[in-house]
Amino acid sequence: MSPKKNVAVLISGRGSNLQALIDAAKAADYPARIVLVISNVANAPGLSRAAAEGIATLTIPHKDKGREAFDGEIDATLRAAGVEIVCLAGFMRILSDGFVRGWEGRLVNIHPSLLPDFKGTRVHERVIEAGVAHSGASVHFVVPELDAGPVVAQERVPVHPSDTPDILAARVLAAEHKLYPAALRLVAEGKVRLEHGLAVFA
Ligand code: GRF
Repeated sequence: MSPKKNVAVLISGRGSNLQALIDAAKAADYPARIVLVISNVANAPGLSRAAAEGIATLTIPHKDKGREAFDGEIDATLRAAGVEIVCLAGFMRILSDGFVRGWEGRLVNIHPSLLPDFKGTRVHERVIEAGVAHSGASVHFVVPELDAGPVVAQERVPVHPSDTPDILAARVLAAEHKLYPAALRLVAEGKVRLEHGLAVFA
């Protein structure tokens, strides 16, 4: 088996997707190990989840510094730790073009919609307002334009007429927890790559 890829997860909050990745990475045949969790929020619950699993954690606050300085700190920390793939999991900062280019093809995000539909925020409210029959989750390579990167993997869920945003969010979140570990597996095994702005599958 190829050596496991070193993965960092960037979070801002709850960290349930982080937990799904941590749990998946416990399997002997999983191609990635979570070596570092970085949060921009000091008391993010996800940090405690990582610490409880013996994973190194770090808070890098975004306040009182420019975006380039913040991203530069993260970038230097990731490189010093030997990180090979970066997973954004509820990380609520927009990363600069320079950072994104520096990690091109090795930086993925999870978004709670079937991209390219419903980019941005207030996703579940907008999905319900739109009256669509399905929503879902997407893992995509990160490119400078927000939520616009090529899709690595998606999982679809139904939207029911009685759904509230919270009910739909919970259904999508359960799908996210299966999807993100599967998508990271593909990236870590080199079964999907970002080439000339497209996701190319082996
Ligand atoms: C998830 O819904 C994810 O799609 C979005 O932010 C939420 C993070 O949840 N980007 P958690 O922190 O992983 O529990």
